[in-house]
Amino acid sequence: MFSSKYWSRRGLSLDSAILRKLKPYVVVVLQSRRPSFCPINEKQDPEGGEGAGQTAVVFSLKNEVGCLVKALRLFQEKRVNLNHIESRISKRVPNEVEIFADCSCSKKDFNELLQQLRDQVHILSFNTPQHVWTAEADGDDVPWFPMKISELDQCSHRVLMYGSELDADHPGFKDEVYRQRRKFFVEVAMNYKFGQPIPRIDYTPEEVRTWGVVFRELTQLYPTHACREYLKNLPLLTKHCGYREDNVPQLEDVSLFLRERSGFTVRPVAGYLSPRDFLAGLAYRVFNCTQYVRHSTDPLYTPEPDTCHELLGHVPLLADPKFAQFSQEIGLASLGASDEDVQKLATCYFFTIEFGLCKQDGQLRAYGAGLLSSIGELRHALSDRACVKTFDPKTTCNQECLITTFQDVYFVSESFEEAKEKMREFAKTIKRPFSVYYNPYTQSINLLKDTHSIENVVQDLRGHNHFIKG
Ligand SMILES: [Fe+2]
Repeated sequence: MFSSKYWSRRGLSLDSAILRKLKPYVVVVLQSRRPSFCPINEKQDPEGGEGAGQTAVVFSLKNEVGCLVKALRLFQEKRVNLNHIESRISKRVPNEVEIFADCSCSKKDFNELLQQLRDQVHILSFNTPQHVWTAEADGDDVPWFPMKISELDQCSHRVLMYGSELDADHPGFKDEVYRQRRKFFVEVAMNYKFGQPIPRIDYTPEEVRTWGVVFRELTQLYPTHACREYLKNLPLLTKHCGYREDNVPQLEDVSLFLRERSGFTVRPVAGYLSPRDFLAGLAYRVFNCTQYVRHSTDPLYTPEPDTCHELLGHVPLLADPKFAQFSQEIGLASLGASDEDVQKLATCYFFTIEFGLCKQDGQLRAYGAGLLSSIGELRHALSDRACVKTFDPKTTCNQECLITTFQDVYFVSESFEEAKEKMREFAKTIKRPFSVYYNPYTQSINLLKDTHSIENVVQDLRGHNHFIKG
């Protein structure tokens, strides 16, 4: 939602307009950690006695010609190197522009800059160099994880099992036409790269009929079984993305819709991913979606996630900002975590995002995609026969996930907000030599190394919720 691509898509080209004006004064190098103007001694700050570090400040100023130039001149005077700068129209203050400046400097220079900057602009958040760790998390003990959104290509292409490899008991196993069709979907997904539009699929009449059966049956249950967030978003998806019985919605339309609602996007995936790779996508508010349709012989059953499951189960909830935050929390907690901890997080994901229940107006309602895309289990989970316990990540993470039968237990949360807070507490028990901070301006991860920096960022970004402690 905060990406510069989004702004330009919305026709807000203020960034480039301002930067053109700035050229006589500063040189801005995008996507670089190297200082780009007014170089200073990186190792030592003789007066302050503290070394230089990478830091950032977010401030807002009047949307008038010359304001940003004046502010940035201070950076030059205070010997603060600008590595990266972005701007966007402020949503907090009318007629103001918010500037994100990623810079390198000593703590002393930075503090002096802040003092003078305060006279000219409204500082929204900052942290000091001593609290910011700029090194990559490339130690031997830390599993690789994507540091920026484009690196999700590596995760999404690392498919454990292709969607075209059908088991002998799969309804489409003996259907050669269906198997060829599944290979086509594998190719589409494996050729997809971040930033590209998602290829539109020309669904066959048979596929549309299969989708239509699932759509018709499930939409009859939703008014009495789905949570209110789901019920709010489904009509919007009908209006904006063609959610109809006679039309299989396109992922590209869905992705653009979600981006505007919650900052989530979707991308096609060829088959199963490891929990680590799948959860890494959530950290960037990216959801990996299959595009194929289940076999037509049994529209109300599928042994694997298909596009009916993604579109009807996941997408309406991903359009809810609080649910989006909750999903991202799980993803952020997984980055660089041990295999054991990733497994615990994946289990929490399973019993919330796939099979979660919530209480609304004194009644149980479903928000899990596995329930909202399965007529049988949706009915079962809300019946007297189901065992329902309170969601608590500490115990939920040890529950066995059942793939071929209904779940033994379902977990209920009072709200997504509450579930998010519980996940956040749980994430604190995960051992990592760093914490992660999601930078929505650059759609990348910053690593923080100590508790002071964490508290600072929490204070600075209160209400924004793109941060999680590790
Ligand atoms: Fe799913």
